[in-house]
This record gives sequence, structure tokens and C-alpha cells, in this order.
Amino acid sequence: MKISEKPIDIPIDLLDDPYSDANKENFEALTEVEAHHKILVTNVNLKAKSLKRASDSEIITLGANLSNYFKTQVLPHADAEEETIYSKVASIEGIDLEEMIDDHRRLKVTLLDFDAENDRETKINLATQLKDLFYFHVQKENQQLIPKIFNSNILSLSELISDLHHKFQSIITELHIQEVDCVRIDVRDIIPAKRHPAIFGAFEELQIGHRISLINDHDPKPLYYQFESEYPAQFTWDYEQMGPRIWQVSIVKLG
Ligand SMILES: [Fe+2]
Ligand SMILES: [Fe+2]
Repeated sequence: MKISEKPIDIPIDLLDDPYSDANKENFEALTEVEAHHKILVTNVNLKAKSLKRASDSEIITLGANLSNYFKTQVLPHADAEEETIYSKVASIEGIDLEEMIDDHRRLKVTLLDFDAENDRETKINLATQLKDLFYFHVQKENQQLIPKIFNSNILSLSELISDLHHKFQSIITELHIQEVDCVRIDVRDIIPAKRHPAIFGAFEELQIGHRISLINDHDPKPLYYQFESEYPAQFTWDYEQMGPRIWQVSIVKLG
């Protein structure tokens, strides 16, 4: 079973020889933005997909989860981009900035429609629109915007990504997102046969609204499917780190 019909990986495709004049900082910036985009796209895809299987009552909970993820992660990322990157790249040829700003605007408008919608089928369709809009938007950034900045002689990708990171963090801080109590489980410390029982045991004991922070050395996706069949609509699943060596997932227990 696949999480999404579309591939989640959207590798950054460098237009010119990536090893020409590039320095280490620019490569690190490239990796950082690619990794963050991958986490955002994967989490949005998972949340949109979970809505399709949900019952009428579950749609309310899972819809709120998708909406909340946009408000606390995706849209802050978009706003931070507009302030730090988009405002600086107007001088670079071949970047359709207006189209990318319009994508951000369409995400916000579609999210408002999604929040206001009560009809099941329409809400699921709007979630699919949000997922697809965001996927294709990130594809444009990874395949056009970022490589052009990387290859630009006027702009420093590493400085822009550092500005983006700081702006994103300051927007998130201003949102005053409440920290919830957390049980940390490092799966690498547990023998394989006892991993899933340990995690499900911890989830059973967890108070509603609290979360497990799971750390692993590979993608714990099979665990996601097990959670989905054992506890449908009773948990949220947010990747916070997706490799290459460490995978980290935040699992909140819903009421
Ligand atoms: Fe964007
Ligand atoms: Fe982006």
C-alpha cells in the first residue's frame, strides 16, 4: 500500500554542473530546504489521505488536524518564504514569482473553503486539492526556484535559507503553539521483537492530548499502518525528521 498516488520525493534537480563553483554552505542549504519540503509534503499527503477513509465523525477530527498543520507549518513556511526568498529573487531570470505567490494565495483560499465545508465529499475533494496544490508548488520550488538561486552569481542560497529558517521560527514562536507532554521512545534502544509492543503499550498509557516522540534509524511507516488499523482517527502522525540516519515522528493521542 502506498501513502500517496504521487511520489513523495521531489529531488532538487540542479540545472548546471552542481560541483562547479558551489561551496559547502550552499549544498547544506540545498539539503536543508529539500528535507523540509519533503517533511511538509509527506505530512500533508498522509493527513489528506486519512480523510478519505474516515467516517463522518472522524472527518471532523482529521479535518481539524489537516487544517491545523497548514496553519502551524505550511502557511508559516509560505509566509517566511515570501518575506525572505521571494522578495530577493525578482532579479533572476526564468523564475515565475507571480505564479508561486498565487500558489500560496490559492492554498490560503482553499484552506478557508476546507474549514467552512461540512459536506463529506466536498471536504475530501478540498483536502485533495490542498494536497495537490502544495505538491505541485513544492515541485516548482525544488525544480526551478532553488536550483536557479543555487546557480546565481548574485544571491547566496545559504544566506537566503538561513533567513528563511529564522523567519519561519519567529512566525511559529508568535503563534504560541502549546507544548504538550511528551514520552520519548528511542526505538534503536529496544530489541526488534519488543518494539511494536513497547510503542503500543506507551500509546495505551498516554493521556489524551499528550504525545510520543519516536526516534528510529529507518522510516517507521509500517507502524503508521498498524496505528491506522488499531486506532483509526485517534492519533496524529507528524514526521519531524526523515533520515538519512535519524527518523523522528510525533504521535499525539486524540480524544
Ligand atoms: Fe512556497
Ligand atoms: Fe517552500
